[in-house]
Amino acid sequence: MSTATPDSIAPAHGKLGVLIPGLGAVSTTFIAGVEAVRRGLAKPIGSLTQMGTIRLGKRTDKRTPLIQEFLPLAGLDDLVFGGWDIYTDNCFQAASHAQVLDKDLLAQVRPRLESIQPMSAVFDKRFVKRLDGPNVKSAPTKWDLAQLLREDIRAFKAKHHCDRLVMIWCASTEAFRAPGDVHATLEAFEAGLKSNHPDIAPSMVYAYAALREGVPFANGAPNLTTDTGALLALSRQNQAPICGKDFKTGQTLMKTILAPGLKARMLGLSGWFSTNILGNRDGEVLDDPESFKTKEESKLSVLEHILQPDLYPDLYRDFYHKVRINYYPPRGDNKEGWDNIDIFGWLGYPMQIKVDFLCRDSILAAPIVLDLVLLLDLAQRTPSLRGLGIQEWLSFYFKSPITPPGLYPEHDLFIQSMKLKNTMRHIRGEEMITHLGLEYYD
Ligand SMILES: NC(=O)c1ccc[n+]([C@@H]2O[C@H](COP(=O)([O-])OP(=O)(O)OC[C@H]3O[C@@H](n4cnc5c(N)ncnc54)[C@H](O)[C@@H]3O)[C@@H](O)[C@H]2O)c1
Repeated sequence: MSTATPDSIAPAHGKLGVLIPGLGAVSTTFIAGVEAVRRGLAKPIGSLTQMGTIRLGKRTDKRTPLIQEFLPLAGLDDLVFGGWDIYTDNCFQAASHAQVLDKDLLAQVRPRLESIQPMSAVFDKRFVKRLDGPNVKSAPTKWDLAQLLREDIRAFKAKHHCDRLVMIWCASTEAFRAPGDVHATLEAFEAGLKSNHPDIAPSMVYAYAALREGVPFANGAPNLTTDTGALLALSRQNQAPICGKDFKTGQTLMKTILAPGLKARMLGLSGWFSTNILGNRDGEVLDDPESFKTKEESKLSVLEHILQPDLYPDLYRDFYHKVRINYYPPRGDNKEGWDNIDIFGWLGYPMQIKVDFLCRDSILAAPIVLDLVLLLDLAQRTPSLRGLGIQEWLSFYFKSPITPPGLYPEHDLFIQSMKLKNTMRHIRGEEMITHLGLEYYD
């Protein structure tokens, strides 16, 4: 039984083009994975849109369809991939270089991956000091570069006969920039593009080009990118939804699972020390202090928001939180993350929790990319969502969710999951689930 009116969501007819700045470990693992799933070679584990169900109505109603049947999502066969990179490697070569997926699996999807050749990138070494590549556009101003990207977008759409497009940033983490006047309004931002303002990062040029073309944009890295007044205004103006920042994988995923549990049981925290070793190109980029600062800001805010020290000073005042990332080439993409958590319980007695997560970074990130592509495309086809700009219901997937000015982000994975599923119910005219449950005892 539903009381709400369903949104008139446009159907997912035709091809959905997925445009990706950055053909590195995450994006090639995503693309190769979709190809493998399409051919029945593997399962899309970790993807809520492909594997998840959603409960509708009462527990006794026994209505739990698959999310992909409940929502009119694009099908995997309708996805077409393209992207930009500063290196000329095609998607197969880039996937082989990344060494995430084994050679046998890659060999089976090789022709499709080889056909994806990166377009030349908008790149500025001041934002990613550890990298340098030959496949880079040159033009007098950032405004001109944005126009070149817009041409790339249109040409891709026409060539592949796409009905709709989505862009998702999977390129390297850029050096930290605080928002300034040039990011505050669309007018200031466009003037800054024309005058080559030094605080306009390449990721912002891509996002601007996408939003100008009416293409939704997701940000998988912690860069500021669309988290500015200027690009939020453009997103709303052009009804091109945005979401970000920084895919929630590995250690932060664990943190946003554990911390809400400790808080729910009113256990105190005196310190949380997190350290990682990883040896992929992302690790190499993050070895630069300026890029690490962007990541650090994103990782540190999580506990503060979940634990709310202002509300619980006896439990969470002055806890010590440290995050370290160490570049260690022998591990490649197989990161190891250690957490030492000092907690205290009844009468203040101390205890410790140790977590040692031997994870695979891109294996955790790839299903997030898939879900974001499909859900952001859905958002643009959904009247009640497309004009919002920020899609806060997709916070579930991010370390540092973007929110409108003045609204604090929700980091608790379980609140985020409830928000995500209730938004799905809402747009389909189903009742929200509150878990009150008194009706079962009438
Ligand atoms: N893997 C994870 O678990 C995870 C989690 C959160 C965030 N991220 C972020 O996702 C991004 C991708 O991670 P990855 O492991 O694939 O990194 P990667 O280094 O393998 O790939 C990034 C690619 O981006 C390219 N690039 C850099 N600047 C570019 C530009 N301006 N235009 C086009 N291409 C550009 C690089 O040449 C490289 O090929 C990183 O920013 C990373 O911090 C990854």
